[in-house]
Amino acid sequence: MKQVVITGPLGYSGRHITRRALEDGYAVRGLTNSPGRANPFGSVVPLHPLAWADETALARSMEGADALINTYWVRFDHRRFTHAQAVANSAKLFAAARRAGVKKIVHVSITRPDAESPLPYFRGKAEVESSLAASGVDHTILRPAVLFGEGPGEDILINNMAWTLRRFPVIGVFGDGAYRLQPIHVDDFARLALRSLAADGPRVVDAIGPETFTFRELFERLGRILGYPRPVIGVPPSLGYAVARLVGVVQRDVFLTREEIRGLMEDRLCVDGAAPAGQTRLTEWAHRHRDALGLRYASELARRA
Ligand SMILES: NC(=O)c1ccc[n+]([C@@H]2O[C@H](COP(=O)([O-])OP(=O)(O)OC[C@H]3O[C@@H](n4cnc5c(N)ncnc54)[C@H](OP(=O)(O)O)[C@@H]3O)[C@@H](O)[C@H]2O)c1
Repeated sequence: MKQVVITGPLGYSGRHITRRALEDGYAVRGLTNSPGRANPFGSVVPLHPLAWADETALARSMEGADALINTYWVRFDHRRFTHAQAVANSAKLFAAARRAGVKKIVHVSITRPDAESPLPYFRGKAEVESSLAASGVDHTILRPAVLFGEGPGEDILINNMAWTLRRFPVIGVFGDGAYRLQPIHVDDFARLALRSLAADGPRVVDAIGPETFTFRELFERLGRILGYPRPVIGVPPSLGYAVARLVGVVQRDVFLTREEIRGLMEDRLCVDGAAPAGQTRLTEWAHRHRDALGLRYASELARRA
């Protein structure tokens, strides 16, 4: 039986990848930043802390594994965590994997990472891809745009778009709303991650779903599916950000950052000309889940509590 180490097996995509890996017959070990959280896989998936301060322990936690699947990242800069830390930690993780004799790394990145971008998310992702290449370990980089599914509230962006539709009589999109997204279902993504273990690298895969929406269209389509067909109007990004901040304060969360709005508006969650890597259509999935989708707000910070 092959051994795979997965970072973030209690997190969103990591949990789905772990479930698929077990179904595919892999022995799975988890590395986590949340060692105190309940382990839904029990003793089947032993958990080790991500020992960022002790690179020997980090390497030891991967000894004997054939492969590493890495989902670790932070969504925004915060007083408790930063992109700069995530970049430095990711380099340590890849170096430790090499030291432990790991033969293959499947790494989760983002569509259109960019070393020149002023946006720390997209610049940081490009830096992490470079440190992976420099590690010398064979690898596949998966670049999803947006993940959605399976249970309502598991993903944040699509769930909270639905939550907004349920609560606000009018939807304001930043600018013209014509920038695009290509969401991929989380289980299609998990299957892709598992398939990538067997592929020779180095490779980069744009992990996009079968449908492309503009941001405006996505609100319009979801609104009709949920039975809340709200008018969608363009608003200045600064006004949209002010409303997003207010929602964040009320929910004790960070709803959307200025940088995320800019990333969306730069069309970074879309790649032209790539074949879909997932088959599940967001519109069909949303129909199946329309009674529950967006009923509750999904909070990034509550997940990190
Ligand atoms: N979700 C999306 O729509 C989307 C879209 C494009 C790209 N991606 C990329 O896909 C990967 C996985 O995304 P995901 O949505 O599955 O993420 P996630 O569950 O929120 O995070 C993945 C793992 O990173 C660790 N992590 C997250 N925030 C952290 C923080 N503030 N401090 C320390 N550790 C933190 C967590 O480890 P522990 O659980 O062990 O604490 C978590 O399991 C990421 O690289 C992300 O950039 C996601």
